Amino acid sequence: MRILITGSTSGVGQGLCLSLSNSHTVIGLTRSNLDLSNTEKVSNFVMPTVDMLINCAGTDIGGKIEFTKHKANEIVTIINTNLIAPVLLSQKALQANSNCKIVNVTSTNNIKYYSNNLTYSLTKKALESFTNMLQVEYPKANILEIRLGLTKTNFNQNRFKGHEERFNDIYSNKHLTVEETVKQITDILFNNSVRFVEVAP
Ligand SMILES: NC(=O)c1ccc[n+]([C@@H]2O[C@H](COP(=O)([O-])OP(=O)(O)OC[C@H]3O[C@@H](n4cnc5c(N)ncnc54)[C@H](OP(=O)(O)O)[C@@H]3O)[C@@H](O)[C@H]2O)c1
Repeated sequence: MRILITGSTSGVGQGLCLSLSNSHTVIGLTRSNLDLSNTEKVSNFVMPTVDMLINCAGTDIGGKIEFTKHKANEIVTIINTNLIAPVLLSQKALQANSNCKIVNVTSTNNIKYYSNNLTYSLTKKALESFTNMLQVEYPKANILEIRLGLTKTNFNQNRFKGHEERFNDIYSNKHLTVEETVKQITDILFNNSVRFVEVAP
């Protein structure tokens, strides 16, 4: 299979790239290939024909903050990266191959909204809705939502850039390692009867 994975430089995306490359042709998309926060570049991106697209890249830059204090440019970056990019890349992947499997990574934040995480939560909830709508729109296509729980990656480091004290103790909470997360994902990734999976500690 030819599989394109966004967010392949770090965390879960990198782990998936390494694991899947053993038996598949994996195209890892990095920020230097395509900055997902740049909607113009994403719109103009020439999507290779692939059998599976994994929208794994994500950010909550400057997030976990009261909504009115979140910088406008960071809000735009989060929405573009976490929502607009997966929507446009999914469209391109399906245009190139109507049988392309689309995999979207959402968050256990979707279960219940806790305050001070509005923009990120909005994008993941919207990505969940987008995934459900794609399943209705293309019932024969294989569309999968992976709802991810706390996993030890660079995600929180990036979220709290410049405020190390805010992420230092987050992994005292129950969490998964990248290896555990990747194993749980790859166990079901090729089972097309699975349309939703929660991977959480
Ligand atoms: N870790 C968790 O606890 C957790 C929980 C729930 C959901 N998730 C979701 O899981 C997915 C993977 O996150 P992770 O935990 O593996 O985080 P991570 O280690 O921070 O990896 C995020 C990846 O996204 C890429 N990315 C971010 N902004 C980008 C941009 N503008 N253009 C291109 N690439 C960009 C990063 O590239 P750079 O290396 O260039 O920054 C990196 O490769 C995300 O969708 C995240 O929302 C994570």
